Amino acid sequence: MRISQRAQAVAPFYAMEFAKHAAMLEADGHRVVRLNIGEPDFGATPVVREAMRAAMDGRPMAYTAALGLPALREAIAGFYADEHGVEVDPARVVVTAGASAALLLTAAALVDPGDEVIIGDPSYPCNRQIMESFGARVRLVPATAENRFQVDAAAVREHWSDRTAGVMIATPSNPTGTSIPTAELTAICDLARSRNAWRLVDEIYLNLSDHDAQGRPPQTAVALDPGAVVVNSFSKYFGMTGWRLGWCVLPPALVPAVERLAQNYFICPSTPAQVAALACFTPEARAVCEQRRLEFAARRALVLDGLSRIGLPVPVRPDGAFYVYIDISGTGLTSWEFCERALQEAHVALTPGRDFGTHSADTHVRLSYTASIPDLGEGLTRLSRFVASL
Ligand SMILES: Cc1ncc(COP(=O)(O)O)c(C=O)c1O
Repeated sequence: MRISQRAQAVAPFYAMEFAKHAAMLEADGHRVVRLNIGEPDFGATPVVREAMRAAMDGRPMAYTAALGLPALREAIAGFYADEHGVEVDPARVVVTAGASAALLLTAAALVDPGDEVIIGDPSYPCNRQIMESFGARVRLVPATAENRFQVDAAAVREHWSDRTAGVMIATPSNPTGTSIPTAELTAICDLARSRNAWRLVDEIYLNLSDHDAQGRPPQTAVALDPGAVVVNSFSKYFGMTGWRLGWCVLPPALVPAVERLAQNYFICPSTPAQVAALACFTPEARAVCEQRRLEFAARRALVLDGLSRIGLPVPVRPDGAFYVYIDISGTGLTSWEFCERALQEAHVALTPGRDFGTHSADTHVRLSYTASIPDLGEGLTRLSRFVASL
């Protein structure tokens, strides 16, 4: 069978290879500490699970509108007002099957073959794979520790070409957990807008971010640049990975194009998941999510302390997503070797930098602190013994 060049060009998600290997070790009776997958261990909040049970009352669960349940689009717009103090017209909110579908739909709406798209390196691999699937040429711009592993406006300007059609930023970032400074994000958006290019900001971890000294969450790009495309999800902050629900906020001119694409690609996002997700915005669910955000901060402190005792440097302290990006170059191993041996010899699953780009791929590994405090403690003890044995 002839497989499309598009499909053949998609690189594997190496984190999944390590997950498979970890599962094999577990099947052989070993206890693996899994610090490799970016999936909150809490699951959906109790009130959302209850809403799903209540919705399962025999009702038919028909398709919704392609852009999502109107009540959910309004609730998401209300979340921007409550959480970020920004008014969003619900007509600009599109509910999708996870952030992944939002990224797919917006890429389909924005990218033509041959367009260049600027993305930082390291970054979430699926973002560039999706762009390339639509024929984009992705310019991976090295994002260094000095810049919090995020691109800055000067680098964007330097890598700009006649073919640049857009810039994509994920903040906070996967795999580094670090956010771009607001002034820098604003400068990048201003630069791209002045050159008539689109701005796509993936904020899937935004609501897990640290608050400032006044207790305020970081600003959303929706407030900084009303013309930007902003993607978010129920997966991380609301703990609903497998429910497959996310959203994007679009500039009004893009809504009809995305609506047509959504009708054709998906018909609609999952109706039961949408009905239950309405409960995410109740005070009970919000209180639980806030509690979890603080729990992640406590876990991060434990992990950073443990890694510093082991002598594994974390060049930039994460401030948002539940990842730390560890520099393992001092061990004499490549990140791939480090992850293979940590899994085989210490039964600790991590993800090598190779998934996230090329720039720091061999020298860094990602640790995801989506495990309980006792499991994180056990993982750190094992890593300490493993590093000492090298
Ligand atoms: C930066 C980033 N964007 C998008 C996604 C996709 O999330 P989902 O489709 O589960 O909403 C992920 C998942 O890990 C991610 O890390």
